Amino acid sequence: MVVKPISSGIESFELSLLKNVISEKYKGRSPVCYLHSYGCQQNVSDGEKIKGELERAGFVFCEDEESADLIVLNTCAVRENAHERVYGKLGELKHLKERNKELVICVCGCMVQQEYVAEKIKETYPHVSLVFGTFALPSLHKMLYEVLAFRKRVFNISENDDPRIYEDVPMVRGSKFKAYVTVMYGCNNFCTYCIVPYVRGRERSREPEAVISEVRQLVREGYKEITLLGQNVNSYAYGFEKLLRALNDIEGDFWIRFMSSHPKDVSFELIDTIVDCEKVCTHLHLPVQSGNDEILKRMNRRYDTKKYLEIVDYARSRADGFSFSTDIIVGFPGESYEQFCDTKAFVRKVGYDNIYSFVYSKREGTRASKLEDNISSKQKGLWLRELLDEQRETVEKLFHRFVGRTLRVLVEEKSKKDGFLTGHSYENIIVEFEGDESLTGSFCNVKILDAMNWALKGKLIDQI
Ligand code: 5AD
Ligand code: SF4
Repeated sequence: MVVKPISSGIESFELSLLKNVISEKYKGRSPVCYLHSYGCQQNVSDGEKIKGELERAGFVFCEDEESADLIVLNTCAVRENAHERVYGKLGELKHLKERNKELVICVCGCMVQQEYVAEKIKETYPHVSLVFGTFALPSLHKMLYEVLAFRKRVFNISENDDPRIYEDVPMVRGSKFKAYVTVMYGCNNFCTYCIVPYVRGRERSREPEAVISEVRQLVREGYKEITLLGQNVNSYAYGFEKLLRALNDIEGDFWIRFMSSHPKDVSFELIDTIVDCEKVCTHLHLPVQSGNDEILKRMNRRYDTKKYLEIVDYARSRADGFSFSTDIIVGFPGESYEQFCDTKAFVRKVGYDNIYSFVYSKREGTRASKLEDNISSKQKGLWLRELLDEQRETVEKLFHRFVGRTLRVLVEEKSKKDGFLTGHSYENIIVEFEGDESLTGSFCNVKILDAMNWALKGKLIDQI
């Protein structure tokens, strides 16, 4: 089904109403917004769009809650601790609201797309005036107008089945040289532990022309790294490999990364495309979740460890430095210690340059939430520690493959702690070296001298 995108381009009636009420309420000064996004890159990118729409209405942004007229918490639902952090923050904000009655507090994003959460906020946190889910961005101006003009509490948790894509949204990006570009929204996979399909709806792909013109514009503005986002970019409706090739053809010196990939949908053609396209970095974030086939089946992942290893082997046969990172869930309901040990062994076998590991968190409404969970959280915590220790040892050895080589690095910042410049290499490994802060945002060649268990240390050769 082809659905015409909704455009944010033209100034709507709601936006002009909002601008009027803002100019009256704040007496001509620009209102100040503090926005914090929890969770994944997709959510950070949504936060940049929310800021874009707020900027159109006249808001400016600050880094501290105390000086804000509007506080926006853009939430994540993927694990319980993400929920707890938001409830904790809302508790703190109560005092701020008591001191400043005009403060507007807003909660949006994945967590509040779940009805029981929106209900809880309505009941327990009366100082929150605006709550909206992941589908409500197109009505942000209207919602905010109602809050400001009529002092109403607005709750907008629309059904998550709107297939339209909201295009031409202005964005206030968090970086001048690294940008996120969404290629698809939603998820169709229904892994049994995961809440995402329930809070972000079904898969919707942006048209390739829209993605290409956004990237072209970013490159023109000087962006050096473009990360394409989607819950599973490999099921991009218009052909992900084709999109990568088209983006690679855009003139300019920049890198292309993407995440996340689903092992069931990764083809050798994708690997060939990464290797052929020099702007596409030779790194794949490929969440494995477990190294045990029985657990993978119960997670509804629809691949096995054999298929996963075929991808890894093929990638490494095409490019030696090819780097893999992954996500792992420890303590899925019913998982035995032996099954967990399979995961540890699998991690060693693949040789990941980075892993993100999480203790399983039961999510209301998912299929796994109905499974009996017989492992104590203390036990799961110990397994997680075991896995991390294993990874730390593995990675230090792995990183030695880079010692003596010169890597291309995008410099990201000067560390406040030790004064080193830090950035990521083409292979997505953190590299530290001495140099001037003015190199931030540019590519440098760095000769690698040493490997630590979380990063490489090197010496600046030249800026390129
Ligand atoms: N519990 C723990 N981790 C989870 N993830 C997703 N759902 C859960 C859950 N219920 C992890 C997966 C996913 C990453 C973004 O978060 O590893 O890849
Ligand atoms: Fe991202 Fe998933 Fe968290 Fe939503 S629930 S912010 S999609 S990690």
